[in-house]
Amino acid sequence: MQTAIEIIKDAESRGVAVGHFNISNTEQLWGIFNAARSLELPIFIGTSEGERAFIGPRQAAVLVQSLREQFNWPIYLNADHTYSLEKAKEAVDVGYDCVIFDGAQLSMEENIAQTKEFVSYVRETRPEVLVEGELGYIGTSSSMMDELPEGAAVTREEMTSPEEAQRFVEETGVDLLAPAVGNVHGMMESGRNPNLDTERISALREAAGVPLVLHGGSGVSDEDFVSSIEAGMGMVHINTEIRVAFREALEQSLQEKPDEIAPYKYMDQAVDAVTESVANRLKLFNKLDS
Ligand code: 13P
Repeated sequence: MQTAIEIIKDAESRGVAVGHFNISNTEQLWGIFNAARSLELPIFIGTSEGERAFIGPRQAAVLVQSLREQFNWPIYLNADHTYSLEKAKEAVDVGYDCVIFDGAQLSMEENIAQTKEFVSYVRETRPEVLVEGELGYIGTSSSMMDELPEGAAVTREEMTSPEEAQRFVEETGVDLLAPAVGNVHGMMESGRNPNLDTERISALREAAGVPLVLHGGSGVSDEDFVSSIEAGMGMVHINTEIRVAFREALEQSLQEKPDEIAPYKYMDQAVDAVTESVANRLKLFNKLDS
């Protein structure tokens, strides 16, 4: 089976991107996994600090590992946006395959210092774990929004620069980099999120020398996904969209079955809704016919 980094580099070399989707529960995990299996694609699962506290960090790691082993499937678990060294180290210790140390709200110097410390910890304890660094603030919440997250780096001047990316990767030794290129976490109620800067993505990929990860995928147009992946994004993160799909399907199911009390008989529609939403995104990221 390909390792996590081999999967990302292989996708990059073919001009496609690996899909990364977040979970808070086993229903979403099955929904995502079913989509990956039906399309025969590798997949990354993410849990934010809040999501993993809800499932249990060790439990999330074991669940994903159990799917990888039982189905002999390339499915990997990422500790998404981890803001403290303590939580980042905990994710490594309980069995996560990748960890994002998110120091985007720190000064450049402090972000480099803390990310570097975390990279050293990983190389000494579980060197197979991938470390992703974050450069440029893009908001923190996977929610529906009336306005852009305050302070998000969406103008050309605010976005991550190639010089910063090169310095950050060289000094920290991260395996992957999440830059700010117009992307924001969450989805605008009005429909469209800001456009992504594909020229900047190409320049960043070249300067960084490591695969780039596109966060804040919900609300991005299909055209922007395609051009960003062509420009150098090797992985795409989606959360808000599948949260919405899950909740809407659950509400409908509860309305249709007001007397049903067995969770597995009213949550199955929500699992299927996640599968459908994820499958549509995976087809786009992998240039498959829809
Ligand atoms: P969205 O909620 O905007 O899809 O972002 C998800 C994400 O980037 C998680 O890391």
